[in-house]
Amino acid sequence: MLKVGIVGCGNIFTMHATSCDHLKNATLVGVCDIKKDRADAAAKKYNVPAYYDYKELIDPEKIDVVHVCVPHYLHPVISRYALEHGVHVLCEKPMSIDYEDGEANVRLAEERDLRYGIIFQCRYNETSKLIRENLKNGKLGKIISARCTLTWSRSDDYYSQSDWKGTWDKEGGGVIIDQAIHSLDLANWFIDSEPVEVQAHIANRNHSIMKVEDTCEGLVRYKNGTMLSFWAMNNYGCDEPIEIRLYCENGKAVMSYDDARIELNDGTVLTTQTQTDGIEYEGGKDYWGFQHIREIADFYAAVEEGREPTISGREALKIQKLICAIYESGKSGKTVTL
Ligand SMILES: NC(=O)c1ccc[n+]([C@@H]2O[C@H](COP(=O)([O-])OP(=O)(O)OC[C@H]3O[C@@H](n4cnc5c(N)ncnc54)[C@H](O)[C@@H]3O)[C@@H](O)[C@H]2O)c1
Repeated sequence: MLKVGIVGCGNIFTMHATSCDHLKNATLVGVCDIKKDRADAAAKKYNVPAYYDYKELIDPEKIDVVHVCVPHYLHPVISRYALEHGVHVLCEKPMSIDYEDGEANVRLAEERDLRYGIIFQCRYNETSKLIRENLKNGKLGKIISARCTLTWSRSDDYYSQSDWKGTWDKEGGGVIIDQAIHSLDLANWFIDSEPVEVQAHIANRNHSIMKVEDTCEGLVRYKNGTMLSFWAMNNYGCDEPIEIRLYCENGKAVMSYDDARIELNDGTVLTTQTQTDGIEYEGGKDYWGFQHIREIADFYAAVEEGREPTISGREALKIQKLICAIYESGKSGKTVTL
């Protein structure tokens, strides 16, 4: 039985705690939050001790695995502390704000032979898997161009209710690092080549309360010649489905929210929809999907088997590099060469 601790008892806590509760090879043994009421409520619900300082919970005598569910700027700090103290780390996205902090923790985990995983649960959707599979088996052929759009609504209230969202130092950005990171990760994973050049524009067009970008558009060129165009904004009136379109040598693929459709040039049509596992996540939001449990199960199996988790820190560095290049280009107004 793996002993699990969770640091951060805010919004996303439910996806981690409920998943741990449903997985047979792990047991939650402690929760931590600097907000005492949150730690106490979570501790009461799961009948485990509450901690108010992560250093008291992250102790190899107490836990094997820590889930890091705190504001972005603390991801590399708490992950590093855990790795230095011999505890495996499963951290929410993004792994860090700066690329170097994430990279340093990847090296540390590898040196210490500890598992370090980053949550990108959308890779576990049936829709993502269908598209990736038909790229890997060659049916779609090479991607010529890819397009990614996100038009969501995050009001001023959403930002004013948080003490870290909407800030450069604590969140590291806005719509790109927080919301579009998932669809950009999927597109980057589908393309499966090295980004070599990034052009991006960022702007805050309709959020007086915060300074980070609520809009970003850009273009990424890859080593294999593929081009990815993207547009993300969170000043729309509602959350419209995220869309990823791929124009490939042998056909087209489109992922829109819970549906995927592949049309091959030979007339074959393949479709699928994302399925839930029938588990209730109290307080969970539909747009997070229901796939955390699949990635968490893979992570626990990786710890038990002594192998790398499927979405390891090293794997997550790929999207981290792209996100950082988008911000560098957006802030400087210059094309970034990688
Ligand atoms: N994968 C997804 O789809 C998804 C969805 C939502 C959030 N997230 C990620 O989850 C993370 C948390 O987001 P959230 O919406 O739950 O934020 P939140 O603000 O609701 O919760 C964060 C919690 O961390 C606590 N905290 C802050 N500093 C701490 C410290 N030093 N020690 C212990 N606890 C501390 C806060 O008090 C708060 O309760 C972020 O990285 C976010 O990007 C991921």
